[in-house]
Amino acid sequence: MRITGKTAVYGIIGYPVKHSLSPIMQTAAFEELGIDAVYVPFEVKPENLKSAVEGLKALNVKGFNVTVPHKEKIIENLDFLSDEAEVIGAVNTVKNEEGKLTGYNTDAEGFIRSLKEEGVDVKGKRILMFGAGGAAKAVGYSLLREGVKFLNVVNRNFSRAKQLGDLLGKFGNVLIYPLKEGTVEILLKDVDLIVNTTSVGLKDTDPHLFDYSKIPEGVVVVDIIYNPPETPLLKAAKERNCKVINGLGMLVHQGAVAFEIWTGEKSPVEKMRKVLEEELYG
Ligand SMILES: NC(=O)c1ccc[n+]([C@@H]2O[C@H](COP(=O)([O-])OP(=O)(O)OC[C@H]3O[C@@H](n4cnc5c(N)ncnc54)[C@H](OP(=O)(O)O)[C@@H]3O)[C@@H](O)[C@H]2O)c1
Repeated sequence: MRITGKTAVYGIIGYPVKHSLSPIMQTAAFEELGIDAVYVPFEVKPENLKSAVEGLKALNVKGFNVTVPHKEKIIENLDFLSDEAEVIGAVNTVKNEEGKLTGYNTDAEGFIRSLKEEGVDVKGKRILMFGAGGAAKAVGYSLLREGVKFLNVVNRNFSRAKQLGDLLGKFGNVLIYPLKEGTVEILLKDVDLIVNTTSVGLKDTDPHLFDYSKIPEGVVVVDIIYNPPETPLLKAAKERNCKVINGLGMLVHQGAVAFEIWTGEKSPVEKMRKVLEEELYG
């Protein structure tokens, strides 16, 4: 890597930020396209967010990603928001154009691209989504924007599901349910695609969301968790002849969309995926 006076600076803010995979992925993308830029992690404590954003602007940092816990709070420090960021209420990508900051949310588009690259078109499809947290907002919004027939949302905390229903209801047909075995069993009879946006499956010891032997044969099952690459949900779905997709594609594509927003170049998606696979799975 050769850094000169002309090298552009990009980065990510978060607290903590050590775990982030974005520096590896974005650095590989800049290198692959021969773009004179660096991408660095910035550890920013919540109480320093405002001054950090002012600093990034003053230092003419061209763009940055935003991760936990700043995704929502940063909005008040930005000049403009994309439609997705506005709806979802969270920003994961910021572009700096001559001191004016625009916030984007690339998780929604990243999720849809990860389905499309696997040949899955959700238009007119019946969706069962588990979870109503931050990721569910982006995933749910993206599915409705693609024109799904309906989105059934199941969440453990029902009032959170209700909030999500209120948020997304204006974009399509959204129904909400509590996480109960009998309820899920009924919903499983009327589904084309199941998506898990909860953190259940991250750990071996996690309880199952429902009885996975009830997954209908041949439906599409998506888990946005990328580590482990095969959660118990995906393992069970595979055994039931379902097409399965994990969260690596979403991770790669949310980064690819951010890269395109910053550079205007087509992202080297395969390179970005390869470095992540090496880092995550060895
Ligand atoms: N592939 C990607 O690019 C990508 C991007 C973003 C996130 N993710 C993954 O998505 C997952 C969720 O992230 P998030 O930001 O949405 O987190 P979050 O806002 O904290 O939401 C967590 C969700 O998981 C549910 N949950 C947690 N433990 C549960 C349990 N034992 N039983 C049932 N439900 C449970 C929560 O339900 P309650 O509301 O009932 O607590 C909530 O719906 C994480 O695993 C994250 O790694 C992947």
